[in-house]
Amino acid sequence: RIDLSVDLGPLSLKNPVMTASGTCGYGIEFKDYYDLNKLGAIVIKGLTLKPCSGNLNPRIAETTGGLLNSIGLENPGIESFIKNYIGVLRDFKIPVIVNISGHAVEDFARLADKLAPYSEISALEVNVSCPNLAGGGMAFGTDSELVYRVTKKVKENYPGSVIVKLSPNVTDIVEIARAAESAGADVLSLINTLLGMAIDVEKQKPVLGNIFGGLSGPAIKPVALRMVYQVAQQVEIPIIGMGGIMSGKDALEFILAGASAVAVGTANLVDPLAGQKVLREIHDYLIKHNIERIGELKGKAL
Ligand code: DOR
Repeated sequence: RIDLSVDLGPLSLKNPVMTASGTCGYGIEFKDYYDLNKLGAIVIKGLTLKPCSGNLNPRIAETTGGLLNSIGLENPGIESFIKNYIGVLRDFKIPVIVNISGHAVEDFARLADKLAPYSEISALEVNVSCPNLAGGGMAFGTDSELVYRVTKKVKENYPGSVIVKLSPNVTDIVEIARAAESAGADVLSLINTLLGMAIDVEKQKPVLGNIFGGLSGPAIKPVALRMVYQVAQQVEIPIIGMGGIMSGKDALEFILAGASAVAVGTANLVDPLAGQKVLREIHDYLIKHNIERIGELKGKAL
């Protein structure tokens, strides 16, 4: 009998595989594919205070190694989310994590305050790392002082677990991770997408309506892994690793680099069964190597 359970600070998951925000909608979109309750937890699409219609089309471009997106946080806004989705989330048997995003420190504080009463939500993931905010709002995830202030405000207004999602678009990821930890973050998740672009040579113009977008998928896995490895050496709080995880082997690399859990993102868009496949492959690896608990592998490569 293999023990796949993991601890994410105050959260306990029955297994280490989660969905990455924005790649499984509000969970219900997956019901025709498989039961998401098989995973360790789900993270739903980022929410903002006001409804948001997102960026100009096209918002997605495929590149050789990965996917570029500049969705721009399209979402129905917090009030509509509370009215139309909270009830549905109650049916999940696994922790449901809500990703929140904003343009100002105060936006994050108000979102945290509005979500605080709902026990259906197990944790907040504070998205200080969206590369596609209108007006080039990259500042949050790239400035350790802002990461500190946002995290602190959310912690003051939200009694549950707070996960802070970090941006790879920085020179010193450890400095940002430390700022989130010292402000009281319970968990870190990394990485969000890597800022990039594509150009259409026939039109001789950028492909994306927003010009730049976030790169995800296999192309960013080595970057993500390096950042998880560096952060794991320097912080005490648990890490959710993500960035191009397509297989159980990919997931195990992140766990060996120090992640407690992993999130599957872009792979869900290629194969909706990806999360389930990653979980099965982790399980098979443990059997093959005679390892009883997934926890034994955490940080072994450090
Ligand atoms: O790549 C991303 N795209 N990361 C985010 O945090 C948000 C999302 C979007 O909506 O643009």
